Amino acid sequence: HHGPVPAPLVLLLPPRHDAQIQCSDIPAGITEKSNPLTRNIDRASADCIVRTLQACDAQMFQEQTEASHQKLLSDQVVKTLMEVAKRVELILKDPQDSLVVLSGCGTSGRLAFLMATSFNRELRKLNRSLVYSYIIAGGDRALLSSQEAPEDDPKSGTLSLKKVCEGKKQVLFIGISCGLSAPFVAGQLDFCLQHPEVYTPVVLGFNPAHQAKDEPIPGCTFTFHSVVQRMQELSKSQVAFLINPTVGPEAISGSSRMKGGSATKILLDVVLSAAHAAAFTNTPVTYEGILQHMRAYDKTLDITYAQTEGITALVEAAGRSLRCGSHVCYLGWGSLAVLGLIDASECDPTFGADYEDVRGFMSGGYRNLSNNEGPLTSLGPQFCISHEDFLRSVLPYLSDQDTILLIFTRSDDVTEVAKLARRVREKTSNLHAVYHHTDGDTAAAEQGDISNLCLSTLNVTWPTPASRSFLLMQWELSTKLLLNAVSTGAHILKGKVYRNHMIDVQVTNSKLYRRATRLLQKLSGHPESKCEEALLRAIYRVDKLTLDITSSDMTAHTLTARKRTKVVPLALVVLLTGCALSEAESHLDQQPIVREAVEAWLS
Ligand code: F6P
Repeated sequence: HHGPVPAPLVLLLPPRHDAQIQCSDIPAGITEKSNPLTRNIDRASADCIVRTLQACDAQMFQEQTEASHQKLLSDQVVKTLMEVAKRVELILKDPQDSLVVLSGCGTSGRLAFLMATSFNRELRKLNRSLVYSYIIAGGDRALLSSQEAPEDDPKSGTLSLKKVCEGKKQVLFIGISCGLSAPFVAGQLDFCLQHPEVYTPVVLGFNPAHQAKDEPIPGCTFTFHSVVQRMQELSKSQVAFLINPTVGPEAISGSSRMKGGSATKILLDVVLSAAHAAAFTNTPVTYEGILQHMRAYDKTLDITYAQTEGITALVEAAGRSLRCGSHVCYLGWGSLAVLGLIDASECDPTFGADYEDVRGFMSGGYRNLSNNEGPLTSLGPQFCISHEDFLRSVLPYLSDQDTILLIFTRSDDVTEVAKLARRVREKTSNLHAVYHHTDGDTAAAEQGDISNLCLSTLNVTWPTPASRSFLLMQWELSTKLLLNAVSTGAHILKGKVYRNHMIDVQVTNSKLYRRATRLLQKLSGHPESKCEEALLRAIYRVDKLTLDITSSDMTAHTLTARKRTKVVPLALVVLLTGCALSEAESHLDQQPIVREAVEAWLS
């Protein structure tokens, strides 16, 4: 017995409300804005989703039109990249007591990890001392799972920086925050500014400086904005650097894992490879060199999206799997596997997904991951990432409903790929592959076998490059774009997105709390105070806010929200209908597809 059936929500709505139209005036940086290109992406076919994502990604390389909005290829950006590359070069040439630290939260920290380990690998090949370290808010568990609360903690940012830099005399610190917003990174930058004899700070993000977050950080006298202002002043004498081109709003509003992450990778790959070439192959850092390298990444986008049909097939397959509660697994080799792990890790906070919905696995597991803290398997099943783990805990339960994607290149052990493909094929025919190779490669015999086993194969052919390491970086970016399209597209098809908003966003840190409040304002048309009140009611599950709640701070709110589901959808129903919380809950239970639920209420 389920109790009385609640009346359809539409009946509870006030007769008229035009919430959808008011809104563009709610202040937020470009990285949080709604992208006009994707306003209807929630209603699009898989093919159209892929083309729309392509158009969004293309905005990364658009030319500068507004004076205050530098773009990737703007003169000032290229010049700053040169200067930073030269600093890295100096450290590479005289590595004793020096370090280059890359740090960030969420995907920004994961990409810091990817690049620090890849460039250290290059150094190891050359028998040089390793100069790169990474820091990710929340520690290594955040490489594979969402840990948003540490993002708000400037002290832990500073502590972790001090720890990796112990005994160093020269540190080039690169703090990544796409939104120029994470207090964790602000704390680190502030610490660098206080110790200029050792630290040279670089901030990397995708908003104009004046849009850096100016919200007070509890216990601190600075904001991200004030730190950026100081750095701007110091950048004139090149003791601090700002790399902050704009790349347009994200396809899913605020989802900085997408373009923010891609642009982070492009910029740092360019800087670090220019520095390596200068230090080890006598190729000085030049303006033209940097510019050319950046343009080559524009080509990477073209080559990747030339595969629209293949990507569409993958989005459709993954969407079908997610819609029926089945799973999507990425089985990867080498660094491309890391991009699978990264893409999967973001589905939870972005789409409120379960860790089993989209999962990544890496050949060799932690043996090949080279993370600071070593194997994390003891933390739980979510941290089991090797192909053996896949064979043991996932393969036995696979069916045709699950989508499996092999991700590999001509440089990987194709015999091993074929072997795994055969094992998967015994359980499901829903097997697909992404295969990167160059036009100069002769196909391995097993490649044909693998294609025969797969429902679809994305064969990405790349022109033979000047350097192998550049080729790998292109494959990495291309894989990132492909997987972002697959997981974003699949969740859109599942109905997790309303227009271009992730409406079921988890409210687990200050940035997400503010994003949620703005979204409620936008969709309900109610003022900020009323929206925040509804948000708190949904977080604490009460109809009336107590003094206890209203006097608690943001940390308390976000900690409580961590234990809840559907906070924002609930708050929205409450705002639109004025009904009690329990009533809103039962309405939502009846219509679990959030997009359809919201549309029913708004129509
Ligand atoms: O809070 C989670 C998150 O939004 C991730 O999705 C994102 O990768 C991370 O924060 C970092 O954001 P930023 O680079 O803007 O600091």
